[in-house]
Amino acid sequence: MEMYGPKVKIAVLCSGGGTNFQAIVNAAEAGLIPDGEVVLAVTDNRAAHVLLRAERLGIETAVFDKREYPRAVREESIAALLKEREIGLVVLAGFMTILSEKFVSAFEGRALNIHPSLIPSFCGPGMYGLRVHEAVLARGVKVTGATVHYVTEVCDGGPIIAQRAVEVREGDTPESLQKRVMREAEWVILPEAVETVCKRLRALQQ
Ligand code: GAR
Repeated sequence: MEMYGPKVKIAVLCSGGGTNFQAIVNAAEAGLIPDGEVVLAVTDNRAAHVLLRAERLGIETAVFDKREYPRAVREESIAALLKEREIGLVVLAGFMTILSEKFVSAFEGRALNIHPSLIPSFCGPGMYGLRVHEAVLARGVKVTGATVHYVTEVCDGGPIIAQRAVEVREGDTPESLQKRVMREAEWVILPEAVETVCKRLRALQQ
């Protein structure tokens, strides 16, 4: 399919380390995201390491800290900034704020989330970060993984775009499992899904 129009502008929303943000930027630098460009990193945590990563890369950052803004104001500020920067795709990469139905519907089909398990297992409200891997180990499943899905008003419930399985090993800790899931699944499928959706959005721009 031939593409017209500019690349899709991507904003990554992140509350912590930003390794998924970094994976997207690395993929873009390697030419693997020809249909999109990361132009903005937004966080709800002033201490988030993603800020250092973005600053180092010369990517604009915006902080709407949870401790400083009430949730509704934070969300409205983020929405206004995304509009102002003409963001075409929003990527939730470890963003620990659940977004309202209003926000989500404004970005229907244009917002993705990465979750560190094979949805529908180990997902939903309260299942995030290390907690997911703790629950995986407590249940004793032998295979876990990661999922990229569209964001809808149902927490972790939107249509699935990509999944990848990862083996759980004898002696795993939540931390060792988290690292393997990131390395073998998240950092692989998220950039791929970002390109898939950017390509689709660009084709729709015509
Ligand atoms: C990632 O493992 C991501 O899948 C998870 O938070 C981590 C963020 O790491 N997200 C969730 O649990 C959402 N429910 P990062 O900041 O290094 O990308």
